[in-house]
Amino acid sequence: MTSQNSVKTLLILGASGDLTGRLLLPGLARLVSRGRAGGLTLVGAGSDPWTPDQWAERLEESFADANSQAGADGRRELKRIRGTTSYRRIDVTAAGQLAGLLAELQGPVAVYFALPPHISQLACEALDPGQVPAGTRLVMEKPFGSSEESARHLNETLAALVPEDHIHRVDHFLGKATVLNILGLRFANAFLEPVWNREHIERVEIVFDEDLALEGRARYYDGAGALRDMIQSHLLQIMALMAIEPPASVHERDLRDAVATVLRASSIKAPFAKSTRRARYTAGSIDGRKVPDYAKEDGVDASRGTETLAEVEVQIENWRWQGVPFILRSGKALGTQRKEAVVTFRPVPQLPKGFSGVASPNQLRIGFGPDTLQFDVDVNGPGDVLSLDRATLKAELSASDLLPYGEVLEGVLTGDPLLSVRADTAEDCWRILGPVLKAWDRDSAPLEEYAAGSGGPAGWLA
Ligand code: BG6
Repeated sequence: MTSQNSVKTLLILGASGDLTGRLLLPGLARLVSRGRAGGLTLVGAGSDPWTPDQWAERLEESFADANSQAGADGRRELKRIRGTTSYRRIDVTAAGQLAGLLAELQGPVAVYFALPPHISQLACEALDPGQVPAGTRLVMEKPFGSSEESARHLNETLAALVPEDHIHRVDHFLGKATVLNILGLRFANAFLEPVWNREHIERVEIVFDEDLALEGRARYYDGAGALRDMIQSHLLQIMALMAIEPPASVHERDLRDAVATVLRASSIKAPFAKSTRRARYTAGSIDGRKVPDYAKEDGVDASRGTETLAEVEVQIENWRWQGVPFILRSGKALGTQRKEAVVTFRPVPQLPKGFSGVASPNQLRIGFGPDTLQFDVDVNGPGDVLSLDRATLKAELSASDLLPYGEVLEGVLTGDPLLSVRADTAEDCWRILGPVLKAWDRDSAPLEEYAAGSGGPAGWLA
């Protein structure tokens, strides 16, 4: 990463919103308290008429954790940020308002759009290229568009304002240390590469099952659903990192080129009733906590048929992966939290006669929280040496001392787009899912049900 801190001002639009309070400011605070955002000024802007005291209170709250863990220098830095910050009330969609604010701030400025996507789009359209000072970085939250076409349209709007390497499309999964650990594991271990292909791997599963339910996010989630919320935004990126060709470096150009190449070769094949599954949770309980029927949650329009659990089988049509299913699955309100990528190897061609017991294929599991690496192997069991038993080799992976949003913000502030989704990739992720979304609109795959707290409908991810 570039070490020079090129951004002088971080301007957060939507500063009074939930994302800013819950994820952005805590991520920033950790970065600041580790001395990794020296000289930065923070400016919040929003449509709410907040007083300076309200803004100060928000910072106090969101910085509290980082502050309590910081040393004297870190606390001084956090105090400095709190002492120099301000909140501005603006309507970002009104001509001239955002441009006027940009002209006042010390540049280069990173503008973080912590806003609903259609407002971000309007705000960018309200900007004139001549009003965006050189060096400005635009940071866009997901979902980036709602289809291949709308993503392309948004890309064109942004490209008229700043160069592509100054556009950061945030995917906070790319800021999770474990996700990037995939690259270390794959490319720093010579024994893996010769078997990392269709000859030796039977299937790859990328699962992100959450025990969280809707959590009051109906306004956003009911219009998105599991496929858009998680598979489109995050799991396709993880899949790409699992599947890329070895890059020459982990600099943004090499890595993002490799990711784009894999995604271009990826698609979900019809019939979609076979290659995709969707379901919605009904009432149930998770760890003693009662969860209401999704369809009856406040703000949910049950007739939309929004799925809270989705599973798709992606094919990557290239030499390495032809015929290997990549199964991507994510859902809410499941009984067991399961967040991992599982690589299942092909069985041995022949188990020597005389062995008995389990003879399951090897599996490599990369856990995304807790961050772990596990390798399941068959070994001779205790007692009868000819009877096989399963053993698991396990390692904890090192976590980053920044939060995922902190990692992503560090990339923005140092001018490194490595952890951002590139324009072509953002469009491609929609291209991959477009046919599924259309098929689901036509009801080509049934909307199944599962009780909250269960493991999902029977027969999935067999
Ligand atoms: C977000 C999704 O992008 O990622 C949420 O909108 C999901 O629905 C979240 O819960 C999961 O990420 P994390 O980092 O909270 O585990």
